[in-house]
Amino acid sequence: MPFNFNLQSTLHVAIIMDGNGRWALARGLPRVAGHHAGAEAVRRVVEAAPDLGIGILTLFAFSADNWRRPPSEVAALMELFVQFLDSETRPCVDNGVRLEVIGRRDRLDDSVRRAIARTEASTAAGDRLRLRIAVDYSGRDAILAAVHGTDHLSRETVDGILGPPVDLLVRTGGERRLSDFLLWECAYAELVFSRRMWPEEPCRNSAAASAGSEVCRPKPRLAKRTGSTRSILKAAPGGRQISARPVFLKVVCLN
Ligand code: FPP
Repeated sequence: MPFNFNLQSTLHVAIIMDGNGRWALARGLPRVAGHHAGAEAVRRVVEAAPDLGIGILTLFAFSADNWRRPPSEVAALMELFVQFLDSETRPCVDNGVRLEVIGRRDRLDDSVRRAIARTEASTAAGDRLRLRIAVDYSGRDAILAAVHGTDHLSRETVDGILGPPVDLLVRTGGERRLSDFLLWECAYAELVFSRRMWPEEPCRNSAAASAGSEVCRPKPRLAKRTGSTRSILKAAPGGRQISARPVFLKVVCLN
C-alpha cells in the first residue's frame, strides 16, 4: 500500500548499510555473498522509496576507510558496483530515478569511473527519486574539499556544496555511530540504529510494519528545540509535525 504522506517536500534518508559480512558468515557463506545480498536489498529499498515519501536516498556503499579491506574484497565490491550500475541503469530510467555518485573518483579504476559516468548521464532526467551512492567517501574529506578555496564561507555556501541536509539517518548491523558519513548534512538528522543485518529479508507482516503506517504525530518539544525548517520534523499542512521515524520503520520492513 503506498504511503499516504501528503508532504509538500519529501524526505532525505541516508543509510549506512552494515552487516553484509556477518549476514553471510552466519550462513556459512563468504563475505562477498553478503555484499551481493546487500545489493539485492538496495534494489528493494530503491524501488520502495518514492512511495515512502523519500525524495532523496543516500547510501554508503564504500567508505574511504574501506580501501584497507583485503584486496580481494575491495575488487569484489568494485566489480559488484559496476554490475549494479550497468544492470540498474534501465530500471532507474524507467522509474524516474536519478543516480549520482558522491565521493572521490580519482582513486577509482577507469572502468568504475566510466560506469558511473554512463549511469549518471543516462539517468540525469529522473525526477521521482534522487539516489546518491557514496563511493570512496569520507564526510570529513567532503567538508575539507567544500571549504578549500571557497571565499565568503557560510553555512549556506557549505550546504550548497555538500548537498541536501539529511532528515533520517539509518544504520543497520547493530553499531551506533556515524563512521564519517554525511557529518555536516546530519546536523539535525534523526538517527535510527537497527540490529538487523542489511541483507536481511523483508518482514512485511511484523508489528514494525504496522507501526510504519503511523505517519503523522505532533512533536512540539523537538520542533521547538531544533528550530529548523529542515530538522527531523517537517512542518505539515495544518501545522502538524511529521517525524521521519515511521519512514524508517517502513524502510526496515522492506529492506
Ligand atoms: C558494510 O558491511 C558494507 C559495505 C562495506 C559495503 C556495502 C555494499 C553493499 C550494500 C552492496 C553493494 C552496494 C551497491 C550500491 C551496489 P560489512 O561487510 O562491513 O559487514 P560486517 O560489519 O558484518 O562485516
